[in-house]
Amino acid sequence: MQVTIFGTGYVGLVTGTCLADVGHNVVCVDIDQAKVEGLNRGVIPIFEPGLEPMVKANHAAGRLRFTTDAAAAIESGDIIFIAVGTPPDEDGSADLRYVLEVARTIGRHLSRPAVVVDKSTVPVGTADKVRAAIAAELQARGADIAFEVASNPEFLKEGDAVNDCMRPDRIVIGASDPDAIEKLKRLYAPFNRNHERIVVMDVRSAELTKYAANAMLATKISFMNEIANIAERVGADVEMVRHGIGSDPRIGWHFIYPGAGYGGSCFPKDVQALARTAQHHGVEPRLLNAVEAVNEHQKGHLFELMARHYGGVDALRGKTVAVWGLAFKPNTDDMREASSRRLLAQLWEAGARVRAYDPEARQEAQRIFGERDDLLLCDSANAALADADALVVVTEWKPFRSPDFARIRGALADAVIFDGRNLYHPDEVEAAGIAYYGIGRGR
Ligand code: UGA
Repeated sequence: MQVTIFGTGYVGLVTGTCLADVGHNVVCVDIDQAKVEGLNRGVIPIFEPGLEPMVKANHAAGRLRFTTDAAAAIESGDIIFIAVGTPPDEDGSADLRYVLEVARTIGRHLSRPAVVVDKSTVPVGTADKVRAAIAAELQARGADIAFEVASNPEFLKEGDAVNDCMRPDRIVIGASDPDAIEKLKRLYAPFNRNHERIVVMDVRSAELTKYAANAMLATKISFMNEIANIAERVGADVEMVRHGIGSDPRIGWHFIYPGAGYGGSCFPKDVQALARTAQHHGVEPRLLNAVEAVNEHQKGHLFELMARHYGGVDALRGKTVAVWGLAFKPNTDDMREASSRRLLAQLWEAGARVRAYDPEARQEAQRIFGERDDLLLCDSANAALADADALVVVTEWKPFRSPDFARIRGALADAVIFDGRNLYHPDEVEAAGIAYYGIGRGR
């Protein structure tokens, strides 16, 4: 099938590449000329495991193309995806500017019937706005061309996006027109083998499904972070509690890891946007507000533990802190809404210096923070430890899981670890002569 995708961000690029990989002809459109030229030369703008060779192979095979020519891409598409960004507006609701701009562009250039698909995470009712925007442009040029607007939300996880796309656990299709549903089923048939993964529903339910999924996952995390804070105060170990509840299939093992708060481009934005939608429709989003409030608080928890250890914020002045992990989670260089950003801001505010190491996010950190005297971006985990007083682990990258504690002990002036992801066993760290603070480990 001929597929056109607007937006070469995470969702657009990964989806386009996976669709090309199963044999569809895909054209990805972006307004960023430099990005498009880069992609045509095989320069992948994001770090995502497995993506680069797939982009290159499908590009070389002629099934995956990148262009800034929206008009030609619209003309060639049987199915046109909108996968551009929906950044949060000032009040936290999703800003649909880019989505609607693409819709207008489609309306200006559509020359034959097509299915337009919202892939971006968009509030309930957006498909109606997209439909209206396209219809208005068609009407303005006196064109009478049939088109359908469907919702097909994305459930990719950064760091595992190619796998999620190639082996989805469900494919949600929100549409009412039988032909549009049929076309999307055909498009996804290669990903729908062995058992039925396609769930067809009305457009609004599909739009809400995406938010419900992310809000549920965020709720699990905030719940566990709250339990962790209770555990810390009552002298319990939340890791034991996690083991104690996860085996109940109604609770499950996934997304019950307490930590330094959730970050990324999805959970913080989507929880807020859903809360705004609820309010807009007269529903008080009590739980969603609490999920967000807990997370905001949790992002400051590592700093609180540090202040507690040192006997107050003032004692952090002049300290040098080694920070392991800057990305919002492992296997990505993405630092959007990352807990590390809050921690660094708090440390700098307190007058501490930071030596940070992240296996992938160094460039991103450089871009965000620029040059500053109180930040040194290091080339290795050990380099970050040199001349440091304390170590804070913010992201659970694999190479941080089993460090040489004797070496850490030798390097740190204050011999203390703040473990924001509960990677280590407190006994093992303490046996090495290092004070240990985890999340929710008050035993
Ligand atoms: C999330 C969802 O997991 C995807 O299903 C969804 O498609 C995506 O958002 C999206 O809407 O596009 P992602 O933001 O890539 O994916 O990352 P996650 O792996 O979900 O992690 C989010 C944050 O939660 C990270 O900061 C992570 O450290 C934190 N987390 C996760 C915890 O603190 N505890 C956990 O148990 C799990």
